[in-house]
Amino acid sequence: MDLILPKVRDTLLFAGAIVEAKIAYQSLFFLTYMNLFKGEIALTNNIVWHETTIKKEERQERNGHKSAILWFTGLSGAGKSTLANALEQQLFQQGKTSYVLDGDNVRHGLNKGLGFSDEDRKENIRRIGEVAKLFVDAGTIVCTAFISPFKEDRNRVRELVEEGEFIEVYVRCSLEACEQRDPKGLYKKARSGEIPEFTGISSPYEEPNAAEIIVDSDKQTVEESVQAILDYLKDNNII
Ligand code: ADX
Repeated sequence: MDLILPKVRDTLLFAGAIVEAKIAYQSLFFLTYMNLFKGEIALTNNIVWHETTIKKEERQERNGHKSAILWFTGLSGAGKSTLANALEQQLFQQGKTSYVLDGDNVRHGLNKGLGFSDEDRKENIRRIGEVAKLFVDAGTIVCTAFISPFKEDRNRVRELVEEGEFIEVYVRCSLEACEQRDPKGLYKKARSGEIPEFTGISSPYEEPNAAEIIVDSDKQTVEESVQAILDYLKDNNII
């Protein structure tokens, strides 16, 4: 008996210590979670959406055409910027309100500091999506030229605007052709390992499976591709 009682007491004390430690751990977890949650609320609290006086439709009416995002996607060197600019030139000459947002240029300013990890590319596209949405609201036809390698990120932008306002233009071009063109000498650097996480070499590109427009830039001329896009815009009553 003398031996059993201390053993029982020790066991009970040990069990009690475990229960206390568990409660302390759970409380800590709960408090941390609540603080994070509060932080999130604080970030989005006290801001109220303000309806603008002039509506998108009024801007479109004055411009004489609808607004939309022409989202050019494809490998580096596929010709996204070339096509976006050639198309804009036509739109501009026709008196349409348009603008080009280009990957390399935006990364000099708004998205300066973002690299090419999957996370940074996601943030790059998220920000551009929001900017492009503002352009649509401003009544503009905005042509965006970003590799935008991930389907999910592109689809998230599609969901930001109304049905028909996001027009995905897949600038299809084989990796071999892009690599042969290598206008900026980047593929060479990527092959030698000088540039890590390079799309098509050491970072993936997910092809669109339901792009509104596909142009084969290694087969069609710039003029043919631009004409195909203009035809789409006319057929869909955007211009
Ligand atoms: S995206 O993947 O985040 O959509 P984005 O279109 O903004 O890319 O930028 C691509 C441009 O950055 C390329 O045309 C190329 O000039 C340059 N670049 C520099 N490093 C890389 C890289 N690792 N992968 C792809 N493009 C790169």
